[in-house]
Amino acid sequence: MFKRLAGVLVTGVLLGGVAQAEELSIVAGSIGKDIEELRLQLDAFEKASGHKVKIVTMPASATDQFGQYRLWLSAGNKDIDVYRTDVVWAPQLAASFVDLSDAMKDVVGQHSPSVIASQTVNGKLVAMPMFSDAPALYYRKDLLEKYGKPVPTTWTELAATAKEIQDAERAAGQPQLNGYVFQGAAYEGTTCAGLELIASNGGGDIVSPQGDITVNNPKAAEALSMAHGWVGTIAPKGVLGYQEEDARGVWQTGNAVFMRNWPYAYPLGNGADSPIKGKFEVAPLPAGAGGKSAACLGGWNLAVSKYSTHQQAAIELVRYLVSAEAQKQRALLNVRLPSIPALYQDPDIVAQQPLVARWKDVFENATPRPSAPTKTRYNEVSQQFWTTVNRTLAGQGDAASNLDALDKQLRRLKRNDW
Ligand code: GLC
Repeated sequence: MFKRLAGVLVTGVLLGGVAQAEELSIVAGSIGKDIEELRLQLDAFEKASGHKVKIVTMPASATDQFGQYRLWLSAGNKDIDVYRTDVVWAPQLAASFVDLSDAMKDVVGQHSPSVIASQTVNGKLVAMPMFSDAPALYYRKDLLEKYGKPVPTTWTELAATAKEIQDAERAAGQPQLNGYVFQGAAYEGTTCAGLELIASNGGGDIVSPQGDITVNNPKAAEALSMAHGWVGTIAPKGVLGYQEEDARGVWQTGNAVFMRNWPYAYPLGNGADSPIKGKFEVAPLPAGAGGKSAACLGGWNLAVSKYSTHQQAAIELVRYLVSAEAQKQRALLNVRLPSIPALYQDPDIVAQQPLVARWKDVFENATPRPSAPTKTRYNEVSQQFWTTVNRTLAGQGDAASNLDALDKQLRRLKRNDW
């Protein structure tokens, strides 16, 4: 219901002259420029619609956000109208959100069908995609050149190059330099990083799309043992507590050769005040013994609370924030991967943020976390998995026995069906 009038975005409601200004609240997490970027777009929406929108800032951790959302929604909180939701949450939070099928029927076809499917639970469109996410291997071009090394395409190669450069640079007076930083804390991000290691090693995707528990296998154990070997050698012991921003902090101060992170870290690393500006590039994550690279599918969506007393205005806000125009602006500003495939050919995006077009394949072939098959159990499954990965990285038990224990826990959770 947005129309363009003299280059200004206005709502159909406003055109009809019956607009009533409403005060909305949106909750969103706070990684990198999340909040700044959202505010910019809310300001444009306020101007066009006459509504006011307040941001309620969430902690950076997706896991902490989820816990807070669950509390608010189970209490029927009326103060929040729009929730920014992770791609894996739809089945668990579906009952608390408005069905957007009707309100979005004219625009839903613009978006990637698989992302829409991930946000659809028993026919109900629980949330609309805002942007997608698929991680990258960040590498320091200058250091690889200095040591005459190619960009690693396997984990083994990555570990060897990381070690060689780390040792040589430390000996030459850079004691802070680390070979590799990634996410290893006990939270959702480590489910992503762990899934990538296992899937790239041919060890499957934790729970198959049919709902079978597949995680207890030798290839999965091999992948996690390998990563345990990195902790305290090429990666600081601190990775056991690292989330995205911790890894980026080390990387962006110039203290890592390689980093696993999402595309948001790209424009930040090239920011005017960044010590590594112009010195790095990204590649797909390395392959394991399975011979293929695996990238976990991430991304964020917008849902309207069933308890909102401003549902119509909240839906207008969602329509604006998921629109091609808003997605394009986010891609240009912060390399947010659009959920609208046509934008990958947009001439401005191609010219100004070539990484977006380069990442189309990675995003389209990304490995989903098992949120669809485990339904309302996903967070418990993920929690068991990230705990297993975190403990294995820390050397608390070996990978094979930890995966064996995880298998038993998941079987208990599953009982007959998820
Ligand atoms: C990113 C991804 C999200 C994922 C989170 C984990 O924000 O987009 O899907 O759950 O990282 O930390």
